Amino acid sequence: MPFKKILQEDISFFHSISGNNVLTDKEQLERCASDETEDLHFLPEIVLQPDTVEAVSNIMRYCNEQTIPVTARGAGTGLSGGALAIYGGVVLDMKRFNKIIKLDKRNFQVITEPGIITQELQEYVKAEGLFYPPDPASKGSCFIGGNVSENSGGPKAVKYGVVKDYVLNLEIVLANGDVMWTGANVLKNATGYNLTQLVVGSEGTLGIITKIVLRLIPAVKHDLLLLVPFRSAVQACEAVNAILLAGYTPSALEFMERDALEWSMRYVKSEGIHLPDDIEAHLLIEVDGNDMEQLYKDAEAISAIVQQYNIDEVLFADSHEQKQMLWTLRRKVGEAVKSNSIYKEEDTVVPRAELPELLQIIKRIGKEYGFQSVCYGHAGDGNLHVNIVKGKMSDEDWKLKLPQGIRVLFKEVARLGGTISGEHGIGLVQKEYMDIVFNNAQISLMKEIKRVFDPKGILNPGKIFL
Ligand code: LAC
Ligand code: ZN
Repeated sequence: MPFKKILQEDISFFHSISGNNVLTDKEQLERCASDETEDLHFLPEIVLQPDTVEAVSNIMRYCNEQTIPVTARGAGTGLSGGALAIYGGVVLDMKRFNKIIKLDKRNFQVITEPGIITQELQEYVKAEGLFYPPDPASKGSCFIGGNVSENSGGPKAVKYGVVKDYVLNLEIVLANGDVMWTGANVLKNATGYNLTQLVVGSEGTLGIITKIVLRLIPAVKHDLLLLVPFRSAVQACEAVNAILLAGYTPSALEFMERDALEWSMRYVKSEGIHLPDDIEAHLLIEVDGNDMEQLYKDAEAISAIVQQYNIDEVLFADSHEQKQMLWTLRRKVGEAVKSNSIYKEEDTVVPRAELPELLQIIKRIGKEYGFQSVCYGHAGDGNLHVNIVKGKMSDEDWKLKLPQGIRVLFKEVARLGGTISGEHGIGLVQKEYMDIVFNNAQISLMKEIKRVFDPKGILNPGKIFL
């Protein structure tokens, strides 16, 4: 791509923008050269840290004129390489956009800048009796802006939905520096095209998000957590839909294969829980609500449903410590796998009832292509993270054979009515598979939309599309 390399005159211009930090030292460039996606590494030419919308606008106007690529970055916890400047240029580090602008309690809304840690935002609204549910595993370190850009999910999505279900309106800076709001701060909106939802999940390719208006709901008082050990992983997947079809909607319905839990226990150095040899997988099931008695009844009923399967003893976690311990184990699975081996993480999602078949297909393809996989994730959403570990695979097989195996897997996912990313995004690492789930007409339409927003293609180039 014919992008301009950054010269001294460009650096001088960036210095002249007020409300902008200009970083060129090796350490800062390195900090922004990777995210949490495998071992990818792309050094930006420069890191800019604006803290006003005007500064972002000035940066964009200049970069557009000069054809310098701009890649927005949040906390760098992404899992598809979305924040990586693969053509160099500017990394727009949004960490100084870290203010919650206004909590509109009367309207159950919060207006925030994108660089706030998701958990901090959750705690802030909770102190006012309100609830922002989406809770990605990295909630303690990821930024809300990244969550919006990737349309993140998390365990609570099964009951409360994902990020898109809470975004009402966005202030964005376009590629040419223009600043605009995408919608209105209302719960219903049938006014023209839905630009807000077009930008949600667009991975920094359509504009730079500078303000976010989120819908909130009333805080929920209580929850209970159950850990159910299954002797058959496929049965664990079957139990997921049985619980939902019986009329229960847990606030989390998570699946973990044995290795996922075992590796996580090792990683966090937790004695954690006893794992008998014959256990293949667990379901971690949370119920929440305001009536404790009702919650116990729901937990009992769910427990009765899972008893129909070949399970070991159900663990009821009702103390704060025990719940924390189980959630830590669940949230750390990704990191645990990462620390264990070279790996590739896929983010498959199928209509929920197809989950048992998906798991079987993954294992069959693994056998055919010689890879071991550790599966876990948001079973209640039909969203299974497939961590493929390199283990004993040769470098050559890893490089050549594995992508073929992944392609076959994604085709099966599509056949089941699913798609190739539920919550991690396409970014860099999945773009070669987009043809499996979209035809030429669909891809062309998306590329045209991209061109309208960003005619010179400077916003996060090389992402989503080949
Ligand atoms: C999780 C992340 C990887 O669910 O999405 O742990
Ligand atoms: Zn996840």
